[in-house]
Amino acid sequence: MPARTTVLVTGGAGFIGSHTCVELLDHGYDVVVVDDYSNSVPGALERVAKIAARPPVAVHEIDLLDRRALSRVFDEHRVDAVIHFAARKAVGESVELPVEYYDTNVGGTTALLHAMRDHGVHRLVFSSSCSIYGDATKVPLTEADPARPTNPYAASKWLCEQVLADICRHLAGFSVLALRYFNPVGAHPSGLLGEVPRKAVPNNVMPYLARVAAGRLPRLSVFGGDYPTADGTGVRDYIHVMDVAEGHRLALEHLDDEVGMRVFNLGTGRGTSVLELLAAFQRACGRPIPYEVTDRRPGDVPALVADPGAVARAWNWSTARDLDVMCRDAWRFQELNPSGYPN
Ligand code: WQD
Repeated sequence: MPARTTVLVTGGAGFIGSHTCVELLDHGYDVVVVDDYSNSVPGALERVAKIAARPPVAVHEIDLLDRRALSRVFDEHRVDAVIHFAARKAVGESVELPVEYYDTNVGGTTALLHAMRDHGVHRLVFSSSCSIYGDATKVPLTEADPARPTNPYAASKWLCEQVLADICRHLAGFSVLALRYFNPVGAHPSGLLGEVPRKAVPNNVMPYLARVAAGRLPRLSVFGGDYPTADGTGVRDYIHVMDVAEGHRLALEHLDDEVGMRVFNLGTGRGTSVLELLAAFQRACGRPIPYEVTDRRPGDVPALVADPGAVARAWNWSTARDLDVMCRDAWRFQELNPSGYPN
């Protein structure tokens, strides 16, 4: 892409979005953020400005479904490409609020496509998810493995991929890269940027571990000890959020390789059980972490691990940060930000 490239980042104040903004700014891109702060806080962007070589060019607090407001953003900035993170992303919540999930995730994506087409913007990196593979028994998973979403969140991501593939078939010049990430965890090494769940009791295991280590929660409930895995606990492919951010920058730089829709897994290829993750976090924080093995969590699958070979072959790139680095960075962020970002 040309030197002064302007990238519109939807959901740029979120966990992965904010880390990707730092990556883009540090590599000379101009960044325009759109976020409605429904699952993020402006404080994250203040930290982005503090860490990155330069602050984002502009931040617009709008809902993607507000088409006039979104169109005005494209009128105001010469957008060269878009990275679309903005979405609802809690599996359990999606079962309770299916309409909201399809409205935000699918409706938000088509509203964005409207604005992109009307402003001649044809390059998009889309935030997809390994959750579309559903209850996959195969380990590891390639992009050719079937999508079998088992909840409205995963189904909304799969639907978006199908919409984007069809748009590419019918609208000349569109180039879309969909990244199916596995389990993004960790934090920026500065300790200034990290994962700040809105709920006092996080859904995801890594922020939960951090709060147990900090003494803010009594113990970790290990959801299930009878899975068909080495130690009976769930296995996931944890990937450092800075590797995820780097993957998005590389996707941006490969959008012009060809027109049309391409899909890539974003994972390390290494599976880690809950008990292995807990042991790694204990090494990072230097203290024992109380836990108890409880019943399985409804909707969980035994194992989800990526085959990262497609990205390695296409971009000559693979993840660089291992589990100990993920835990070390997550713990540093927890220690420096016990209450998250200042409101
Ligand atoms: C990981 C493991 C749990 C909490 C996430 C996102 C989803 C998608 C994929 C982006 C599982 C176990 C958890 C706890 C536990 N990301 N666990 N105790 O479910 O893999 O999904 O990554 O699209 O949106 O939610 O992540 O961190 O909730 O669970 O034992 O208190 O940890 O059973 O094996 P999950 P998670």
